[in-house]
Amino acid sequence: MFQGNSITVQRIEDGFIELCFDRRDSSINKLDEHTLKELAEAVELIAAAATVSGVLVTSAKQTFVVGADINEFAAAFRLSEADLASRNLRLNHGVIGLEDLPVPSVVAINGIALGGGMELTLAAALRVMANGARIGLPEVTLGLIPGLGGTLRTPRVAGAEVALRLITGGKSLTASEAESLHLVDAVCATEELRATALDLLRQACNGGIDWRQRQARKRHLPADEAARQQAVFRAHRKEVSARSLKHQPAALVTIDLMTQAATQSREVALVLEAESFALVAKTQAADALIQTFHNDQALKKLFRQHSRDGRPVQRAAVLGAGIMGSGIAFTSALHGIPTRLKDLAPAQLDLGMAEADKQLSRQISSGRIDARRAQSVRDSLTPQQDEAGFDTLDIVVEAIVERLEIKRQVLAALETRLSDDTIIASNTSSLLIDDIAESLARPGNLVGMHFFNPVPAMALVEIIRGSRTHEQTVSTAVAYALALGKTPIVVKDCPGFLVNRILTPYVIAFLQLLAEGADFAQVDRVMEDFGWPMGPAHLQDVIGMDTGAHVWQVISAGYPQRMALPEHDAVRLLVEHQRYGQKSGSGFYRYEADATGKTRKSATAETYALLSTIQPGGQRSFADSEIIERMMLPMIVEAAHALEEGVVASAAELDMALLLGLGFPAYLGGPLKYADWLGLDNLLHRCERYMPLGQHYAPTGSMRALAASRQTFHGA
Ligand SMILES: NC(=O)c1ccc[n+]([C@@H]2O[C@H](COP(=O)([O-])OP(=O)(O)OC[C@H]3O[C@@H](n4cnc5c(N)ncnc54)[C@H](O)[C@@H]3O)[C@@H](O)[C@H]2O)c1
Repeated sequence: MFQGNSITVQRIEDGFIELCFDRRDSSINKLDEHTLKELAEAVELIAAAATVSGVLVTSAKQTFVVGADINEFAAAFRLSEADLASRNLRLNHGVIGLEDLPVPSVVAINGIALGGGMELTLAAALRVMANGARIGLPEVTLGLIPGLGGTLRTPRVAGAEVALRLITGGKSLTASEAESLHLVDAVCATEELRATALDLLRQACNGGIDWRQRQARKRHLPADEAARQQAVFRAHRKEVSARSLKHQPAALVTIDLMTQAATQSREVALVLEAESFALVAKTQAADALIQTFHNDQALKKLFRQHSRDGRPVQRAAVLGAGIMGSGIAFTSALHGIPTRLKDLAPAQLDLGMAEADKQLSRQISSGRIDARRAQSVRDSLTPQQDEAGFDTLDIVVEAIVERLEIKRQVLAALETRLSDDTIIASNTSSLLIDDIAESLARPGNLVGMHFFNPVPAMALVEIIRGSRTHEQTVSTAVAYALALGKTPIVVKDCPGFLVNRILTPYVIAFLQLLAEGADFAQVDRVMEDFGWPMGPAHLQDVIGMDTGAHVWQVISAGYPQRMALPEHDAVRLLVEHQRYGQKSGSGFYRYEADATGKTRKSATAETYALLSTIQPGGQRSFADSEIIERMMLPMIVEAAHALEEGVVASAAELDMALLLGLGFPAYLGGPLKYADWLGLDNLLHRCERYMPLGQHYAPTGSMRALAASRQTFHGA
């Protein structure tokens, strides 16, 4: 009856028609603009056909329909808000047509049905789902909202609570979850999917299921139910607002939209949805989160490339059972790799194993693993003071004290106990891999693996390629990081590597602000409102003032032309006064337990008095906007330098590293995406304004070139 690029329609048994998604030359189905046009045509044809008793919607691929075509977003989102809303309404025609067919319809969901894929299923009268399939509305994770009727049909099919959970949470559901939430009418094995769907269709035709009433509810919800739904949406607004990340409005926009649309006809509700969709699609958050999605895809390809020549790690060891070593050893064992944990001090080994036990209890109580698995993880961790078994290792991760001479000595001695192809990964945070390699007989086997604290929680691992590191060593380190469930990003050996190098000018900007009389608590508040998980003063307190002072000094020395630490340095001052931060009870803030035992921080008069000794001009107030610019611009500049020098190969890797390693605000998408959003021309002007403060504000060659050619770091 109909043969398109993505859809075929044919008559099957019992007067039924099958509409099958089968995208030509592709392993998946997706809802691009063309497919939605075909759907509208196909449905029109079915509606006009004689002697049709029901419609079965299927997919010929492993997946059902994976969702919208994200590659079409960039061009579409450049439309004006009004044009984008009209486009959306137009794209809804086929879906509405399916809902308005004069015969019953059933969708056989054989695999993933996400976003538009799931919204399409909601337009049919009935849904059957295969056991292994998943459905969901993940739009909010891209800063968007459903745009094919999902915000109106989900509550009308399954109720307001389900809609809230699905749309504002963004998580997908298994078949049994979907069934228990009344999103689908039946669940069965894949082999039985077609027969079950046809059976439901027959029941609907025979009057066994009131399919007309189901479709009618979606056109207009009965008034009492609509009022009830509105009340539910209103009651949850505060909670949704509290869990929404700053500057990511999609979840709140949806809840307001659903509140308003509940009492409206389908037609009005769809117009409201299209308007809300256009509103969020034009936000900075949507732009950045969609870029991050593309970056993530690019990274997955790179992982395959980078780990191709890697040896799978079957046996690992970690040297040093301190904060980092214990976390790395635990993570390694948790991911099924037998891991030895060596330390010189028995007390440290006890602490390390106690930390592993604590982590395992957490895993059990959150339901991620059971007690038996926890025991086997525990058994695969071997604390030891000697090098027994080191001759059979694939990798040793070194996480001992951060002193070059000690690392050199310890690793040179260690090397003699290892087989020729065991790789050594140093977790150094501030030393150069090339410097550590000096003492080794096999420098090609040395690589940096810079984990972040706390290791079990932080996704990023910088893989540092020294100038003598063998390609296979890099590959094995990448493969090991992937086996640990981490995101490895390969970077060049340079002071601070990537993340800490870009963080340093931000810290310098903070120190300069303080030296000029800024209030650290105001800077923290402004930067937290701007989207950072914590402000720079609090961050220093968490890192530890002594650790921070050391790291900033090392990195600053690596880039003397633009990262000189200011003469009046608050961090150094606090170290001199033994105010090491959270761990010592005071740093910028004072930390005290409240009545419930929870640690609370406060800014005290004593701190202000101490800081005034390095504020020759006295205290001064700064506009919030100036604080943001002075803090953020040097990060962008340093990110541009790092990309120009090839510290990482792409803007995608750079931005992902900062998002994962530093908690860079997600709605900005990373420093380079942020630069793109500001516009390179505009950015240059802003930087130039602050250049009297130092070279960390000076635009780089690539920034100027991009501005001149009206391009961006991430391309169009
Ligand atoms: N703490 C962080 O946030 C962080 C983050 C990233 C990287 N790092 C880096 O990780 C490394 C370890 O840092 P940490 O904070 O875990 O230090 P830590 O002081 O907590 O632990 C170091 C451990 O190494 C042990 N040790 C010393 N010499 C040893 C030897 N010869 N053999 C075996 N064990 C030995 C010590 O007994 C101690 O238990 C450093 O290079 C540091 O720069 C730290």
